[in-house]
Amino acid sequence: LRFMERDMAGEFSAMISAKTSQVDRKIFSDEEIFREEQRRIFAKAWIFVGHESQIPNAGDYFLSRMGIDPVILVRDKSGSIGVFHNSCRHRGMRVCRYDAGNTRLFTCSYHGWSFGIDGKLVGVPGMKEGYCNKLDKSEWGLIPVAKIANYKGAIWATWDADAVSLEEYLGDMRYMLDLALDSHDGTEGGSEVSIGVQKWTIPSNWKLSAENFIGDLYHNISHRSVDMVGIGPEGTSQRRDEGFINNATLVSVGFHERGHGGINVYLPPEYVDARPYPGEIGEWFRAADKARKDRLGENACILGGVGTVFPNMSFRANQPRQIIVWNPVSATETEVWSWYLFDAKSPDSVKAFMREYALRYCGPAGMTERDDMENWQGATEGSVGGVVESFPYNYAYNLADDEQPFEALPNLPYAKNAVIGATEGNARGFYRQWSIWMDATNWDEIRREQMKIKGRI
Ligand code: FES
Repeated sequence: LRFMERDMAGEFSAMISAKTSQVDRKIFSDEEIFREEQRRIFAKAWIFVGHESQIPNAGDYFLSRMGIDPVILVRDKSGSIGVFHNSCRHRGMRVCRYDAGNTRLFTCSYHGWSFGIDGKLVGVPGMKEGYCNKLDKSEWGLIPVAKIANYKGAIWATWDADAVSLEEYLGDMRYMLDLALDSHDGTEGGSEVSIGVQKWTIPSNWKLSAENFIGDLYHNISHRSVDMVGIGPEGTSQRRDEGFINNATLVSVGFHERGHGGINVYLPPEYVDARPYPGEIGEWFRAADKARKDRLGENACILGGVGTVFPNMSFRANQPRQIIVWNPVSATETEVWSWYLFDAKSPDSVKAFMREYALRYCGPAGMTERDDMENWQGATEGSVGGVVESFPYNYAYNLADDEQPFEALPNLPYAKNAVIGATEGNARGFYRQWSIWMDATNWDEIRREQMKIKGRI
């Protein structure tokens, strides 16, 4: 992995003040910083690229992204999954131009080089006339990622051979991620992608969205209008805030040594049983909740929550479960990709209910997610001008939480850093991690800095 060395040592950590919890506006608007993020974060981190249920058969492929790099996720004849840069080795043209499908070959439409589903170069027009049969095809295959990992159906990849294993990268965050990936009855994985992948563009910096999902319990005023009008996403007349919000305990859980975090939502048993879903759907939810309690214990987090895996993968563990990737396009533009995960074994009526719920709640037309997108757009616009450069943002909400010794909660034995209620601690952890990655030039340096976050590794 070649790395563009620049004399910027310490420059990025200077933009994040751990002491005063201030963050420089430029990190949300500066195009040079954006380019450095591609090299220093997205070329080294584990990135979520898709779900195995999207490519069940040999030759199935799905076009994805790792930062701004386009990649092909493809299953080969042996059943293995490969991830390759979607660019021809001859002159860079995309070798695959469809979002998803099945193929035996990827043929470049520029000069006609063709590549197998294992990435190998297999066909070169004019091999004899132009290359005197001397072109070594084995040297000109598609560019593969360095490592691939399948965690409960979620496929991840990294360009850096020195990256730690995905399991180590996730750390205890995987227990929160499990709530999004496992089916409700405890089948590991056991989920399938439904609806397809919803994609849309928002005029905002990718970090603002990742930060929101890492645990912004402070922004509920944003969704006040949805809460007040009584058209909850369930399709009932129940207000959003009169359901689980009023009855639940919301816990912010941070894994600051790695930059991950999220919110767990706990419900008392009586509310779980009182969910106002009709007939077969209500029965399925109650049975699924019971199965999860039987598996994880009476105090288990039944409803789930939301979270962010550093840098740009977020998830919703509530039903319908969702994976969201904040694909960076530029400093001020993000392409959002959203996968909806349903239990593969759930009946069609439940899947239909989930689908309608998802479209009412989330996405570009969802009642709640639109509120957030407007916030992120406004925050990005507020970060652009030259006049505001010397006025950093404030991340000090419940700053005292960071100084307290964190006791693991009985329900959250994995959580060393858990706070009941709102805090900006997870956001502070996210930007601390961002500065570590931006100032480091390799994985050894990242690990060394992560180790300094006391007691977290
Ligand atoms: Fe692909 Fe020339 S760019 S064959």
